[in-house]
Amino acid sequence: MLTAARNEMLTRVGPGTPMGELLRRYWQPIAGASELDGNPIKTVRLMGEDLVLYRDRGGRYGLIDRHCPHRRADMAYGWVEDTGIRCSYHGWLVDQTGRCLEQPYEDTTSPKPSKAGCETKAYPVKECAGLLFAYLGPLPAPELPVWEPFTWRNGFREIVLADVPCNWFQCQENSIDPVHFEWMHDNWGARMRGADANVAPKHLKLKFEAFDHGFVYKRVREGQSEEDRYWTVGRVALWPNGFYLGSHFEWRVPVDDENTLSVAWFFVRVPKGREPYVQERVPTWVSPLQDETGRFITSHVINQDIVAWAGQGRIADRTKEHLRSSDIGITMMRGRFFAELEAMAAGKEPGGIIRSANEAQCIALPNMARELNIDGLTLAEFDKDPILRQRLKEFRHHYGQPAEVRREFVEAMGISG
Ligand code: FES
Ligand SMILES: [Fe+2]
Repeated sequence: MLTAARNEMLTRVGPGTPMGELLRRYWQPIAGASELDGNPIKTVRLMGEDLVLYRDRGGRYGLIDRHCPHRRADMAYGWVEDTGIRCSYHGWLVDQTGRCLEQPYEDTTSPKPSKAGCETKAYPVKECAGLLFAYLGPLPAPELPVWEPFTWRNGFREIVLADVPCNWFQCQENSIDPVHFEWMHDNWGARMRGADANVAPKHLKLKFEAFDHGFVYKRVREGQSEEDRYWTVGRVALWPNGFYLGSHFEWRVPVDDENTLSVAWFFVRVPKGREPYVQERVPTWVSPLQDETGRFITSHVINQDIVAWAGQGRIADRTKEHLRSSDIGITMMRGRFFAELEAMAAGKEPGGIIRSANEAQCIALPNMARELNIDGLTLAEFDKDPILRQRLKEFRHHYGQPAEVRREFVEAMGISG
């Protein structure tokens, strides 16, 4: 249980709030690069700030104030040129650093007008593994962490986004919540398929460990032992707002205090014999969350998670909860946030930020599926693994995979549709 004031500290993300300032110190995934292939301009709202993301014709990414520095028109209705984005109201041209490059009428009437003071808010953007990451904190920006899976080759990657109607922190608490798998995914899944009993193997033992880039949780369930990778390796609640499960990442990116952009990045190694496989473009798609009646879709794993997150309310009221031993990881995570917030208030840099380019190049995380994803398996071996067999059949993580993404996947894997 937390006091209302402590709950506010964890959940408020606007500019100037303690948590908002903390999260701004980390690169945040905000979109898939392929989203800009059709329309090169996308509106985004991040931690309460309205912005536009764009790729100019020179290939540079920009993330700037949604409102034009001239008289505040909506830059999303502008267009991109070789060196920036131009407002459609009076034609001011702005670049990715926020500089105003052209003011057409002023440039005509007084050929060397000063544009000083007309800069707009601008944040750096970097592309990695098909994702676009933005940094909204004080400069100089730290290095963008290149997690090891981003360097894996011969894999099919896809990015799935979802607009989740609740605060980011309850989504992130789900990253350190092993027991929910048994209930939310296994037992509830079985009940929805008509089961009349709780069939899932029970959790028998949990362990949570802290490291620089977050927490690892480990578990033993009925039918497993401490020799199992779920215990010897575990899964990672990635600091500060991610989750890493061996072949995919999820991030919970705050849109504002009451909304979160769920960003998930998936990797499937092509079967042995299909190499070299080079994916030209990482597809990005948006998973719908509700059916036509307004009820949440419950058929897919992350959709089920979202039912839990949004069900806790727009901002979960942590003054009314009852934490127990299954929640030890949650207490550890909150504790680290409070400690980091205090350290930041004392002028220190929060943990897990990387300033060395070398160190950022390929960061290994505890990973239950490394060999599988690097060396690959034959198609026959895929078939022997219940999770991978299922993965080939259909995309179980998010509802709504578009047919063309399925087609690209089928082709990469060399299987029939
Ligand atoms: S408002 Fe954008 S150029 Fe005038
Ligand atoms: Fe889950």
